[in-house]
Amino acid sequence: MPANHTLVPILFRPATPQDRAEITELWAACGLTRPWNDPASDFDFALSGPASTILAGTAEDQIIASAMVGHDGHRGCVYYVSVHPDHQGRGLGQLLMNEAETWLRDRGVPKLNLIVRSENEQVVGFYESIGYLAEPNTQMGKRLDTR
Ligand SMILES: CC(C)(COP(=O)(O)OP(=O)(O)OC[C@H]1O[C@@H](n2cnc3c(N)ncnc32)[C@H](O)[C@@H]1OP(=O)(O)O)[C@@H](O)C(=O)NCCC(=O)NCCS
Repeated sequence: MPANHTLVPILFRPATPQDRAEITELWAACGLTRPWNDPASDFDFALSGPASTILAGTAEDQIIASAMVGHDGHRGCVYYVSVHPDHQGRGLGQLLMNEAETWLRDRGVPKLNLIVRSENEQVVGFYESIGYLAEPNTQMGKRLDTR
């Protein structure tokens, strides 16, 4: 274990609707919210069906890590991968991603894809260190909520 990894006794569980404010504040504190997305409705949508969830990592009754996890029947994905700034660099991000992978694996999902925003390239090193590879694909998108 690297020297800067302190043992934080984190427990992971699925989030409940009561966690919405605390978790969306965590996402904001980690710089993951954007004006054009509504994290509260993302949170509610993820809890509304069996193909997605929100993971909550708790320590001393505080949520210090979280991720939205889901699948589309073919691939899994994660969003809002967040460890509270006071607790980063201690191995919790790796534990959080382990939980996300287990959630997907338990549902028979064979692969996880994730998007790193271009302004957040520094996080690529984190994902590489836990086994992810940049793939030679072009990501395309279209908004469906504009009419
Ligand atoms: C990204 C994030 C979840 C990582 O969580 P963390 O708890 O800080 O990461 P860990 O301590 O578990 O790091 C795991 C490994 O990745 C490495 N790592 C972490 N950040 C890194 C970086 N920016 N570059 C290179 N390696 C990195 C660590 O050194 C560690 O490797 P080690 O086990 O050999 O020491 C956290 O920093 C965060 O919430 N960032 C802000 C939100 C964000 O950008 N989320 C990702 C959106 S795509």
